Amino acid sequence: MRANFEKYDLSPKDRGFLQELVYGICRWYGELDDFAANLLHSPIRNKDRIVHFILVTGLYQIRHLNTPAHAAVAETVSACKQLNKPWAKNLVNGCLRNALRSNYQSAITIERLTHPEWMVEEIEAAWPRHVSAILTANNERPAMCLRVNKIKTTRDDYLRELLQADLKAVFDPLSIDGIILQQPVMVNQLPGFTDGMVSVQDTAAQLACDILQPDAGHSVLDACSAPGGKAAHLLERCDNQLKLDAIDIAEHRVQRLYDTFSRLQLKANVYTADATSEPDWDTPAAGYDRILIDAPCSGLGVIRRHPDIRHHRRRNDIAQLNSVQQALLDNLWPLLKPGGRLLYTTCSILPQENQQQVALFMSGHSDAILAPFNHPCALQLEIGQQTLPGVHPMDGFYYCVLYKSS
Ligand SMILES: C[S@@+](CC[C@H](N)C(=O)[O-])C[C@H]1O[C@@H](n2cnc3c(N)ncnc32)[C@H](O)[C@@H]1O
Repeated sequence: MRANFEKYDLSPKDRGFLQELVYGICRWYGELDDFAANLLHSPIRNKDRIVHFILVTGLYQIRHLNTPAHAAVAETVSACKQLNKPWAKNLVNGCLRNALRSNYQSAITIERLTHPEWMVEEIEAAWPRHVSAILTANNERPAMCLRVNKIKTTRDDYLRELLQADLKAVFDPLSIDGIILQQPVMVNQLPGFTDGMVSVQDTAAQLACDILQPDAGHSVLDACSAPGGKAAHLLERCDNQLKLDAIDIAEHRVQRLYDTFSRLQLKANVYTADATSEPDWDTPAAGYDRILIDAPCSGLGVIRRHPDIRHHRRRNDIAQLNSVQQALLDNLWPLLKPGGRLLYTTCSILPQENQQQVALFMSGHSDAILAPFNHPCALQLEIGQQTLPGVHPMDGFYYCVLYKSS
């Protein structure tokens, strides 16, 4: 989720509070909706849906934030007037006061109530032993993880800078370029952010670079590249000495690629292109040494960072994503040079998007060999490796490296 709060003229404190409300309500909406239904004698009419959301915003503050009760009630009630629903003031006031006295308990567990049923079924089918840990983690606020740009500074020096700026942080024990902040902050509060000293990136995403192992001078294709987090890490690791082609199909996201490379002062060839079609960008005649397919996916491994995924993702999206994932593998494999390596990765925890895709691909490509790789903690699967939120201290990611035999 990338909420655009810039358009509002807010102080940093108000902006932080607004972000907390938006993210928190996305996380807990199932519970808040159920609680609201318990408090109301009859549902609010569709044409006054905004009143329902005003009520939910008050309930979130009462249930999940330390907002003093009187302030939560007074501010929420005053929102009715500001949003042209003055008639709803008494209704909202009464409901919130009842909520403060209520010992509401949902009929099913909060974790299940806060995820769509189909999503719980899919996660349970894939990870029966871990389903409860995953659903619980999806509702937590994730740590803010940083990746230090080793071209510009060292992890020790940057940690010192953070501490001098009164930002408590520790080395990430699982990623050699990583630092974990004790409290999230706005990126402009990070020392040297605009000068490219550091980027925000979860540990799981940082590990893609260690797994792909690029060397200076390599030709690299990052086929689903925007906004460029992993591509930038590959370049930083190799002192900006890669011939890196960064492709993305979405024009508006390609702009973010330019922004990333410009802020970090990195060199790459950027193309807007469909990586499932015949390449219309210049590809190296001998093939690429490394290909990264960070495939479009359901995002079910990153719900804690993007809590809206549970609201907009639909079960039948998965089959459509599977077709694109397979087309990417099929189309890009011929571009890999013999002896080269391809990393297929997703931020999904569903086997349909992960090992099943690779198995299907391998069944038609006898020159694709599973290559072993080290991951500091992932679950080893028959094909590839998987991290799970709540089980591993990072986002849920799938990784599989294929080596091309000559
Ligand atoms: C998981 S995101 C990539 C994140 C990126 N690798 C990073 O580390 O910052 C997947 C990207 O794939 C792009 N994409 C989807 N279908 C594509 C296609 N057919 N060809 C190229 N890019 C595609 C999407 O626009 C999206 O930006």
